[in-house]
Amino acid sequence: MKGHASVIADLNHYLSFELTGHRQYLLHSGMCRHWGFERLARIQQEYSTEETQHAARIIARILLLGGTAAPKELRAIVGAPSVPEQIELDRQLVSDALTQLRDAAENCEKRADYVSRDLLREMLDDEERHLHWLEIEAGLIDKVGLENYLQSQLGS
Ligand SMILES: [Fe+2]
Ligand SMILES: [Fe+2]
Repeated sequence: MKGHASVIADLNHYLSFELTGHRQYLLHSGMCRHWGFERLARIQQEYSTEETQHAARIIARILLLGGTAAPKELRAIVGAPSVPEQIELDRQLVSDALTQLRDAAENCEKRADYVSRDLLREMLDDEERHLHWLEIEAGLIDKVGLENYLQSQLGS
């Protein structure tokens, strides 16, 4: 089965977001665990795993379309040095991913590749929920203050 070149390019572009997210959240999870913030560590690890699963599905789709899974721009990841900075960095990544996902889904629609479109829409749903979670956490820090917020992250 042969896919449209621009769809394969978009999928590869999106794959680089998934792989960046996977590594960034894994690193943030490790740092949170090191600091004793077990709840955040667990959730960050779950998001890291979710991105791995997304990446695996994108890779499978690229291969099925006859393409090569070759994400071009693996972004450098930085482990932000504090919880609020981690949340902000993750928000930026997920926001950028959402923009690219919407464009890519639109392109799939144009090229009549409805299976790729539906796959990306599923991921859009996951990433919108991811962004929502990050916004809730950032809002809680504002509302209750950083000290109280971090206190509540000690349990799992
Ligand atoms: Fe994802
Ligand atoms: Fe995500």
